[in-house]
Amino acid sequence: MKKNNNLYITTPIYYVNDVAHIGHAYTTIIADMLARYGRLIGKDTYFLTGTDEHGQKIAHSAEARGKKEYADEVSGKFKTLWDDFDITYDKFIRTTDEAHKKGVQNAFEKMHKKGDIYKGSYEGFYCVSCETFFTQKQLVDEEFCPDCGKPTSIVKEESYFFKLSAYEDKLLDWYKNNPDCILPRSKKNEIVNFVEGGLRDLSISRTSFDWGVKLPASMNEPKHVMYVWLDALMNYITALGYGDDEKDMNQWPAGFHLVGKDILRFHAIYWPAFLMSLDLPLPTHIAAHGWWTRDGSKMSKSKGNVVDPKEIADAYGLDAFRYFMLREVPFGQDGDFSQKALVDRINSDLGNDLGNLLNRIIGMSGKYFDFKIDSSNVEKFHQKELDEVNVILEGAEKLIFNMQINKYLLEELWKVLTIANKAIGDYEPWVKMKEGKTEEAMALVALITNIMAKVSLLLDSVLPEKISKIASSLGISINTETYIKLIKNKELIGNTTITKIDPLFPRIEEILLDTPEVKEEKPKEKKVEIKEEVEDDNLITIDQFFETSLKIGTIVEAEEVPKSKKLLKLQVDLGEGKNRQILAGIKEFYSAVDLVGTQACVVANLKPAKLMGMISEGMLLASKDEDGLCLIRPEKPKKIGTKIS
Ligand code: MSP
Repeated sequence: MKKNNNLYITTPIYYVNDVAHIGHAYTTIIADMLARYGRLIGKDTYFLTGTDEHGQKIAHSAEARGKKEYADEVSGKFKTLWDDFDITYDKFIRTTDEAHKKGVQNAFEKMHKKGDIYKGSYEGFYCVSCETFFTQKQLVDEEFCPDCGKPTSIVKEESYFFKLSAYEDKLLDWYKNNPDCILPRSKKNEIVNFVEGGLRDLSISRTSFDWGVKLPASMNEPKHVMYVWLDALMNYITALGYGDDEKDMNQWPAGFHLVGKDILRFHAIYWPAFLMSLDLPLPTHIAAHGWWTRDGSKMSKSKGNVVDPKEIADAYGLDAFRYFMLREVPFGQDGDFSQKALVDRINSDLGNDLGNLLNRIIGMSGKYFDFKIDSSNVEKFHQKELDEVNVILEGAEKLIFNMQINKYLLEELWKVLTIANKAIGDYEPWVKMKEGKTEEAMALVALITNIMAKVSLLLDSVLPEKISKIASSLGISINTETYIKLIKNKELIGNTTITKIDPLFPRIEEILLDTPEVKEEKPKEKKVEIKEEVEDDNLITIDQFFETSLKIGTIVEAEEVPKSKKLLKLQVDLGEGKNRQILAGIKEFYSAVDLVGTQACVVANLKPAKLMGMISEGMLLASKDEDGLCLIRPEKPKKIGTKIS
C-alpha cells in the first residue's frame, strides 16, 4: 500500500483501576466508526486500543493483590467488552507487554542521548488520580488538584527531567502550520494559550514506588521507574514495534489520536514534544471529545450513577447505542445520557425515518413488482432527486475526517432519507400503478432503493449490524468496490431483488432499565393531602413557598475568587437581558471550567449581598452531605429563566 493511503487510529489506553463506562465506550465507538469508514473507502487502516497499567494509581487500586494479576483481570474486562461490542481493533496493547517496555526504554535512551533528558530533583505536588505534577500556585486552596479536585501529595525526590521548555517554539510553530492538528479548533486555542504561557520541564521518572517501566539498563538507575504518562503515550509507537521489531512502523504517523478533553494537554503538548525529540513525524489530528454526564452530573462510582455500556447495549441494541452516542452530541461538546433521549432517537430517527423507508421499499416492490427492482429509468424520471442526494453524499468524507460526525453523517444523511420519503409522497407510485404508468412507478421505487443503498454505505460504520441486514435485503454488498461505484462514481445499483425482513427497529414504548433515573420519574406520594390534615407551626403555606422566586439559569462565566477557599464568581443568565453575578461557596466541589455552559437552579429574588467586597445577586440551590456538595439542576436543559415551582 502507498504510504499516503494509511489511516492509523488510536483510542487512549484505559486505566485498569476502573470498569468501562459510557465515557470509555464513547471514545472507542468513535474510533471504531472512523476505522470502519476508513476500511470501507479503501484506506490501509490500523486501529489500536489497549490498557494503561502502570503508575501509582493502579498500584493503590491493586491494594493487597498482585499488581500484575489485578491488571490482567481489569485489562481482560476491557478487552472482553470491546470484543462483545464487535470493536474492530487491530491490536490491543498493554503497557505491561514486554515489547512495549523495551520500546519505551529505547525511546528514553534516544531522548537522553539527544540531550533532552537530564537528572535533577523534583519538589512539588502530585495528584495520583490524574497522575499529574503541579506547582503550589496551580493548586486549589493550596492543596487540591485543579483538574479533579482531589488532595495532592507533596513529592520530593530525585528525578529525570525532559526538556519540555526547549520545545515551546517548535510546538507553537506546529500548531500554527497545521490548523487542524487539534480538533475541534476551539480546543486547539486553549492549548495554544497554555503553551504561550510558558512550559516547564517535565519530571519523567519516580523513585518512591516501583510499579512502572524501569529506566534503560544503560542509565544504571535501578531505583527509577518512568513517569506513567511517558510510558503510556509511547504506546502509540511501541504498538507498531518502535524500539523493537519496527514491524508496523510504516503506519506511523497516526491519522487520529482520539482522546477526551481531560487528557488533551498530555496528547497535544507532551506527546508531540516527545516525538520531536525522537525525530518522528507528528500525528495528523489529535481529536478531543467532550464528557458524558448522567442527568446533568458527572458520573462516579461513589454517586452510583455510572452508566454501564453493556447493560444499555444489551437492552436497546448495540447499533442503537452507537447511533445515539454519535448522533446526540456534536464532537467536542459535553453530552448528557438519559434512557429517555435514547428511546426517542430509536423511535424517531431509526424506526420512523430509516426502518420505515426500508419497509416501504419492501412493501412497494413486493406489491407491484414481485420484489424485482430495475434501475434503468431512474435517471430519466428522477435526475433532480439523484443530483440532490449525490451532492450531499459527496461531502461525507471531508466532514467525517473533520470530526463533524454528528452534523454530516447523521444530520445530512437524514436529509437524504427525507428526500426519499418526500419523493414517495410527491410521485405516489400507487396512483401511477392505477393509471397503468408502471415504468414511472418502477423508476420511483428504484430511486428509493438506490438512495437506501447509498445511505447504507455511509451508515455502515455507525450501524454495522443493522446495515448488513439492510444490505442483504437490498441485495447489495457493503465493500470498497460498491462504495466507489455508488458514492464516488455516483452510479446506480442496476437490477436487484428485494428480500423481505422483519422491522429493524421495533417501537419502544418506555424505557427498559430500572435505574435511579427511572425511580425519580415515578410519581411521588401525595404530600399535599397529608399537609392539609396536619397543623404545625413549622409548615408553610403554598403562598409562602411562592414568595421565593426560583428560576433556571445558565452559568455563562465562572472564575475563582482569589484568596477565597470556597468562593467561585459566576455570571448567570436568567434571561433578564443582563447576567446576574452570583458568588457561590462551591469551589471545593466544582472547578470553574466545568461549570460554564451548565444550568443551575437560582433563588432569583434574594436581596443582593456583599461577599469579599463583591456583590452577589442570588443563590444557587445545592445539597450537601458527607459525600460532598452537589448543585441541584434540571434533569434536562430548560429555557433560561424558566420558573421552578
Ligand atoms: N490512561 C489514560 C490515557 C492514556 S493514553 C496514552 C486515561 N485513561 S482513562 O481510563 O482515565 O480515560 C480514558 C478515556 O476515557 C479518556 O479519553 C477520557 O476522556 C474518557 N472518559 C472517561 N470518563 C469520561 C466521561 N464521563 N465522558 C467521556 N469520556 C470520558 O486517561
